[in-house]
Amino acid sequence: NETVSKPQLTIRLCGPRGFCAGVDRAIQIVVLALKGYGAPVYVRHEIVHNRYVVEGLEAKGAVFVEELDEIPEEHRKQPVVFSAHGVPKSVPADAQSRNLFYLDATCPLVSKVHKQAMRHQRLGRHVVLIGHAGHPEVIGTMGQLPEGSVSLIETIEDADRYVPADPDNLGYVTQTTLSVDDTAGVIARLRQRFPNLTAPSADSICYATTNRQEAVKQAAPGCDLFLIVGAPNSSNSKRLVEVALKAGAKQSILVQRAAEIDWDTIGSISTLGLSAGASAPEVIVNEIIEAFRQRYGATIELAEFSIENEHFLVNRELRSIELTHE
Ligand code: F3S
Repeated sequence: NETVSKPQLTIRLCGPRGFCAGVDRAIQIVVLALKGYGAPVYVRHEIVHNRYVVEGLEAKGAVFVEELDEIPEEHRKQPVVFSAHGVPKSVPADAQSRNLFYLDATCPLVSKVHKQAMRHQRLGRHVVLIGHAGHPEVIGTMGQLPEGSVSLIETIEDADRYVPADPDNLGYVTQTTLSVDDTAGVIARLRQRFPNLTAPSADSICYATTNRQEAVKQAAPGCDLFLIVGAPNSSNSKRLVEVALKAGAKQSILVQRAAEIDWDTIGSISTLGLSAGASAPEVIVNEIIEAFRQRYGATIELAEFSIENEHFLVNRELRSIELTHE
């Protein structure tokens, strides 16, 4: 009997994991646009940071571009979708000036952060944005306000070095996908230096980031290896790897597909943690479980931290187009 000879493995499968409501909505927007308006549908930037999702949509007729000027003249009437990460104000303005039909798939929770940054500014505060330089969400949030009105802080060291023009008039917001614990540290340091620093009216780190990190944190102690399904450019997925290591997993790796797993480096393990970033589809989680089942006598243990019920409506223009599940 083959199963008897396989080494035993407990897989702690975290919940919640994978798709959040914002990612789900963004993908639906592209699918509905394809259905309602026909191919091609242009998408500015990866709709969500996942190759499998992007390639699946490409197969249906989506065309991914980095900038609007890549859309050929003859396709100007086709929709262009802005990714879930959000865009600077200059992007819809540019789309309008080019007479493009655009559909904004910015996650409503990212838009909320945009509004809070604008509110700080309206009330006379200089905005401090805590986030990772170069990430599209950070570019989008900074681009809600005129140049020079947002200062980006990435680390505690940045918080130490920061010299604002008016230390008593600062308001902060953060990227939605940061490490909950590291961000609390950065905010505490800023508060120490600038006691009048104003918080946004609601947390910027979103429910999906918070729940995925908490589930990983609880499951990590005692794990020989913690796999996070996600892309190397996915901020929330990378944070999950850090959280797993900090919470006691011996090793943690980000993987995009089962085929990427280097079985030789895994060595002998008896407990595996498994979760997926907010942009990683469940089929890949299953593919990875299957790959482990081929090599181990695997028992799955659910590590559920909470149940999520969030659901975000798609853009008004798309609501009458019926979504068919394939
Ligand atoms: Fe939105 Fe958070 Fe997902 S900001 S896209 S719900 S990771």
